[in-house]
Amino acid sequence: MAPSSSPTLRTTSEADEEKYANVKWEELGFALTPTDYMYVAKCRQGESFSQGKILPYGDISISPCSPILNYGQGLFEGLKAYRTEDDRVMIFRPDQNALRMQAGAERLCMTSPSLELFVDAVKQTVLANKKWVPPPGKGTLYIRPLLIGSGDTLGVAPAPENTFLIYASPVGDYHKVSSGLDLKVDHKHHRAHSGGTGGVKSCTNYSPVVKSLFEAKSSGFSDILFLDAATSRNIEELSACNIFIVKGNIVSTPPTSGTILPGVTRKSISELARDIGYQVQERDVSVDELLEAEEVFCTGTAVVVTAVETVTFHDKKVKYRTGEAALSRKLRSMLTNIQMGIVEDKKGWMVEIDRCQGW
Ligand code: COI
Repeated sequence: MAPSSSPTLRTTSEADEEKYANVKWEELGFALTPTDYMYVAKCRQGESFSQGKILPYGDISISPCSPILNYGQGLFEGLKAYRTEDDRVMIFRPDQNALRMQAGAERLCMTSPSLELFVDAVKQTVLANKKWVPPPGKGTLYIRPLLIGSGDTLGVAPAPENTFLIYASPVGDYHKVSSGLDLKVDHKHHRAHSGGTGGVKSCTNYSPVVKSLFEAKSSGFSDILFLDAATSRNIEELSACNIFIVKGNIVSTPPTSGTILPGVTRKSISELARDIGYQVQERDVSVDELLEAEEVFCTGTAVVVTAVETVTFHDKKVKYRTGEAALSRKLRSMLTNIQMGIVEDKKGWMVEIDRCQGW
């Protein structure tokens, strides 16, 4: 936009045009709206990452023989930036995503960015794309860090080069539901097995769930719930988020023993539930218990905290408490009030995007 000769006389809409990208915020769903910039850093095997660059958002060039394309050697993260009423831009617990990427990199024999570099790179990406952070209450800026095996490896081996890339997109709700999700328990396929990669955010954990998800959605369900591969008796997680059940004062969620993603929202919600007097148990949760629960909800960066309205297991369908009276409603507002700066962040979870090394 051309500089105004008389800034004090500018109308609100002109000021907003500079402050915000041209997006129909009310229409946002969980789909890519490309922003202006992305962050890219590369590192050779045996070396460590140094500061990368902010580049215009766009396609990247990669070898057809790269480990990410051939063997799926890659990890991703998801976190969000929020605009507060007083116009600060905040991100939620980026250190947790950095540490989870490090754990995944160790599992996949990759080189991970340091915690400091990861957090600084996220800040740079958000600052560069600040006008894409939706107005308060109209969505969030979803940030997607990727660590991918680049270079060439025809044989199965650690990547000769790792690329750390971050892009971002303004988003709205992940699931379009009114009162809660309708879940189908998958009794045919499994998402993860003991000793596999279910406990890290490997790219390879996600494409195998698409068939089940697609079939469930085609039959009118909102999402799919996987059972453990060893016994098919215990619940694990949905296609892209963790699950909790509530009975009385006890909130239970499957343990992070290698087949469940250690969700940042899962961990935060467990802490908030304990703060208001619930007993939170991380333990095996059987399908039988799920079917007898009073309430079920799922958590994740994309889904935040979303109530489950029904679960279908074979030909049995169970309905759960949702709405105002549901614990999930309370926990969701406790969390989002912290994220949106509506209540004081006594936990030190929020990081303000004000400055960073490379910008
Ligand atoms: C997230 O919640 O950030 C996720 O990783 C889910 C994603 C696969 C949509």
